[in-house]
Amino acid sequence: MRSAANKALKGSAIFWYVTAVIGQWLFVAYVASFYGGAAMAGNFERWNEVLVGGYVKGGTIGNVALATHLLLAIIITVGGPLQLIPYLRARALPFHRWNGRLYLLTAIVMSLTGLYAVWTRGTAGGFSMRFGISINAVLIVICVAMAWRYALARKIAVHRRWALRAFILVSGVWFFRVGLMLWIIANSGPVGIGGKGFDGPFVRFWAYGCYLLPLAVLELYLLAQGRSGPAGKLAMAGLLFVLSAGVGIGIFGAFMGMWLPRMAGG
Ligand code: HEM
Repeated sequence: MRSAANKALKGSAIFWYVTAVIGQWLFVAYVASFYGGAAMAGNFERWNEVLVGGYVKGGTIGNVALATHLLLAIIITVGGPLQLIPYLRARALPFHRWNGRLYLLTAIVMSLTGLYAVWTRGTAGGFSMRFGISINAVLIVICVAMAWRYALARKIAVHRRWALRAFILVSGVWFFRVGLMLWIIANSGPVGIGGKGFDGPFVRFWAYGCYLLPLAVLELYLLAQGRSGPAGKLAMAGLLFVLSAGVGIGIFGAFMGMWLPRMAGG
């Protein structure tokens, strides 16, 4: 029973991981194709077909912050999931270390450039969106600092927990899009979104929920892995399978509804 429960928990984590990696790399494909494509063509105004506080002609500092943010979004989203592969940690430790340093630094620069963009140029939605993502940024910086500290101290079990928290928080903006699409699909329409103002009840809730909910699930998973008996592990595995399936549906919705139509040739 114990080994079956361990296997189920591991299987559910792998299922979640594969689903998330596919979804995150589809997001990267969109960012590279849409923002990168427009930048290479010198047509930065095209960014504003999506962004609310986007490119501003002559606003050099803000534009550089935004462009840095978008470029690093690609690096962090490609590199992050590679840190979680046990084989690479065991067989290619120097890669894990260098990619890890790059990831942690990138997460900090993304948070700072993101904060700058939010509070100087704004973003979609109202105060909840701005405040929610700002808390997300602060939590990213805290978890990154802790992950780094424990890696340096070679306390690997503690480092792993903080690094996983950082990964989930960095994925907050991605969870936002995927969760939003899952919600819209589940309701057969944009219920609680708030129309053009994008400040409806669901958006206000999800501005915080998009990172706090996944963080809570991670804490439950870590608890189940470390302390639960077989029943707790099986329950966690079941929850993770169901949530991953939901995330899969959200990814499909986000890709078909938001990302593919904006990709070059899409
Ligand atoms: C760390 C992980 C993050 C990633 C991977 C990421 C990625 C992105 C991407 C891809 C976009 C373009 C939006 C789209 O096409 O859907 C974007 C825009 C933006 N991001 Fe981030 N971001 C992250 C964190 C943050 C944080 C923590 C903040 C704020 C504190 C932030 C603030 C912004 C702002 C203000 C925009 C422009 C929104 C607009 O003008 O409508 N980002 N980000």
